[in-house]
Amino acid sequence: MPSGRGKGTGVLGIIGYPIEHSLSPVMHNAAFDYLGMEYRYLAFSVPPEALAEAVAGIRGLGLVGVNVTVPHKEKIIPLLDDLSLEARLIGAVNTVQRRENRLIGHNTDGRGFVASLRKRVKRPLRGSSVLILGAGGAARGVATQLLLEGVGRLTVTNRTPERAGELAGCLRKVKEDSVCVEIRTVRWASEGLAQALGETDFLINATSVGMLPRGDETPLLRTYLEALPKTAVVADLVYNPLRTRLLRESAEMGLEVVSGLGMLVEQAVLAWEVWFGREAPGKVMQEAAAAHLDCGEAGSITP
Ligand code: ATR
Repeated sequence: MPSGRGKGTGVLGIIGYPIEHSLSPVMHNAAFDYLGMEYRYLAFSVPPEALAEAVAGIRGLGLVGVNVTVPHKEKIIPLLDDLSLEARLIGAVNTVQRRENRLIGHNTDGRGFVASLRKRVKRPLRGSSVLILGAGGAARGVATQLLLEGVGRLTVTNRTPERAGELAGCLRKVKEDSVCVEIRTVRWASEGLAQALGETDFLINATSVGMLPRGDETPLLRTYLEALPKTAVVADLVYNPLRTRLLRESAEMGLEVVSGLGMLVEQAVLAWEVWFGREAPGKVMQEAAAAHLDCGEAGSITP
């Protein structure tokens, strides 16, 4: 257990802007209640201009730690004392740990995604061919971890091609020389994309397309999905709705699908390891999060 707080309730939280819709308080507080731990997890609405003061508050108030979300994941780095290897490689922080007066930044997003996939899909990632839709912060976290997992080929496509090129450039610096991996970009909605899909084992949506309130949208039209091999796995980072249009259409075509809820839960479970050095009750967290989502039509989707 972290030291440095007096008797009473230990406080954690998430800082972001906007933050009202975060499911993290629901998940973490359900876990504390389940284990009878005297901790509370709060949502802190921190606009960009207040970030430095908020970080000073983590030290000053003796918080156990915090999660960090949009738009602070990168901007918080210079305000911290040290970074984990993953946070350094990804260039973004989603979990802060306070050790006495030192603040250490971690990133559990990428490992959370991989843990979620491993629990749900038998197919190995090592040596596989992965295609990522998107080149923002979420794509960066997942792609970096996939490289560390030893995927054989990573293809990035993004609506704004320059960002895909930038991400591919960063990923090439991450890869160790010993790892044999091909990193490439293809144009969004192009013939090249259709060809790349034909050689894909895992398709991952790391764009925000399909998220509520625009749940009728999809980052990849059905005609493209048809180019995927029948054995491909389709994973969405979007978890709200649980059953995105991308996953619905993929499942209708007989493809194996994985929703974004697993990653949401696993990144929280990994944050517990950082803060408390103990395993979190993942099932309790998942049930608490799912109860807050629109799961009416979850049907055959594996959460
Ligand atoms: P996050 O940290 O969640 O990844 P982000 O950095 O804003 O957020 O990235 C959002 C991603 O979704 C980007 O890849 C973005 O594409 P652009 O780089 O072209 O903006 C993608 N995205 C958002 N809206 C999109 C849309 N309507 N069509 C295609 N891609 C979209």
